[in-house]
Amino acid sequence: MAYQTLLTSLDQGIFTITINRPDKLNAINQQVMTDLNNAMDEVYNNADIKSVILTGAGPKAFVAGADISEFAGATVAEGMALAKKGQDVFFKIENSPKPVVACVNGFALGGGCELAMSCHFRIASSNAKFGQPEVNLGLIPGYGGTQRLVQLIGKGRAMELLMSASMIDAATALQYGLVNYVVAPEELIAKAISILTVVNEKAPLAVAACIMSANAVFNENVDGYSVEVAEFGKCFGTDDMKEGTTAFLEKRKANFNGK
Ligand code: COA
Repeated sequence: MAYQTLLTSLDQGIFTITINRPDKLNAINQQVMTDLNNAMDEVYNNADIKSVILTGAGPKAFVAGADISEFAGATVAEGMALAKKGQDVFFKIENSPKPVVACVNGFALGGGCELAMSCHFRIASSNAKFGQPEVNLGLIPGYGGTQRLVQLIGKGRAMELLMSASMIDAATALQYGLVNYVVAPEELIAKAISILTVVNEKAPLAVAACIMSANAVFNENVDGYSVEVAEFGKCFGTDDMKEGTTAFLEKRKANFNGK
């Protein structure tokens, strides 16, 4: 499917989504949000897609935030609607049954940092910069940033970044646990591909169950241990669990079919 503001490609089960507004540092306007929503529907529904890389076009930015030009003149109700729509799309990314990795290739500010945090994990290029500069605009993060930043780096560090609007570099993001790896810009996508190539060989329903169970830690409406019991049990009803255990006992490589 073609998108107005995204470039997409599918290679060996890895679907790459590139936000493509480099002249605006890939700022998320309403069209980008709609396109991201539709691209995630494609991820959910296309059986050929096993995992996802999310990145930004150009050498400078992953995403420099929500498009500030769309904020002027908005009312309180419109502000709330904007946040709700963004949160819904980012929940769709976070709850995707297929792994989504952010390749942060430059500025990840405001909504860009929030977008990266909604992915299952992040890899940064050495020139990446992270921050929540909304207080500079008389705003706060609205796409889940106040919640996920605390989850990922702890309350004290998150509070400082939220209140000060300070940016951190890739090395600090690594030290904080915000990203899993920092690599040279030209190695960024290759690093993600090498990890996802390994993940894509695993049992897809079990990978999805890992995502759902780990996400349950942060969902106060469910008991994560109960989710784990249910997901563990469900695995016993899959072809892949039979294949995985049989292959181990037969000392051969498992061949999973995702059923
Ligand atoms: N919304 C809308 N447009 C944005 C944008 C955003 N969040 N971030 C960057 N842009 C646009 C700029 O307006 C500029 O457009 P123009 O060439 O038509 O004037 C273009 O992208 C390039 O940005 P510029 O500011 O010239 O680049 P820079 O290298 O001097 O600075 C940043 C880079 C990231 C420090 C700076 O763009 C910035 O502070 N952006 C806003 C970050 C922010 O507050 N994000 C949170 C939003 S809630």
